[in-house]
Amino acid sequence: MTGRVCVIGSANMDMVVRAPSLPTPGETLLGESYQTFPGGKGANQAVAAARMGARVTMVGRVGADASGTELRKVLGREGVDLTAMRTAAGVSTGVALITIDAQGENTIVAVGGANLLVSPEDIQGVAGLIRSAEVLLMQLEVPLDAVEAAARLAHGAGRRVILNAAPARPLSDALLGLLDVLIVNEAEAASLTKRPIDTPPEQLAKALLALGPGAVIITLGKLGALVADASGCNTVPTIPVTASDTVGAGDAFCGTVAAMLAEDKTLAHAVRVGCVAGALAATKPGAIPSLPTRAAVGEILAAKTH
Ligand code: RIB
Repeated sequence: MTGRVCVIGSANMDMVVRAPSLPTPGETLLGESYQTFPGGKGANQAVAAARMGARVTMVGRVGADASGTELRKVLGREGVDLTAMRTAAGVSTGVALITIDAQGENTIVAVGGANLLVSPEDIQGVAGLIRSAEVLLMQLEVPLDAVEAAARLAHGAGRRVILNAAPARPLSDALLGLLDVLIVNEAEAASLTKRPIDTPPEQLAKALLALGPGAVIITLGKLGALVADASGCNTVPTIPVTASDTVGAGDAFCGTVAAMLAEDKTLAHAVRVGCVAGALAATKPGAIPSLPTRAAVGEILAAKTH
């Protein structure tokens, strides 16, 4: 069974530098390489869901420039429906400046550009698309009022609403109450709950659940992910890999979870599959180029059960 996923989010051109370490304030480092890759949390998650077999529609904006043309081409090749992806005049496509160190860890500064023009009016214009998808998947690289408008629409239509609250921003109680699944990493969980970063993830998850979402997932990198809902808290392990570039790993996880839930799989199953997808994405360079297919993830899951 194929499910429909509507992604509302960003598309960026990623400018990626590899360096021996991440620069500290005031430091100039000599980098080792420079490459550009298609990315943006919205586009990454849309492609991740499509590669897992979902029928995906993406709502967003790119600029009328070479990066925008390239991103549309990449998304189109993946079979993502772009009828609701608009090209905005007079503004640049979003861009992300990324540094990756020798361990594959990264820092990212994203400049929104055209992504920041996604508006509640855009959302009203694609209400039919949002209502007809089993799952609405969003992140926070587009304006919050658009995210809230979409969440209200999908929730009102009885659709599942997933928010990957990245990058972390304060969220209204109203929005948190509309979410079926909130996905964050530990730093984002700490920021949303205003707790120290070293708070145990179980405590962060319980504090997040109390804010209103139906379920909370905290991604834990090499340790997998913690899933919490009214029935309790569980850690789902991932597979061991040698990470070379973790950019897009979280997006592989989110897109996969959305695709699985759109097929009506359980949350526990969706997270198990998502953890494998995230681990595989960390083994390859680039955001979109690193996202695994359903076949690649399936092979690993099959080997684990034998
Ligand atoms: O999650 C990774 C993404 O974050 C990158 O592709 C970059 O564009 C930023 O949006």
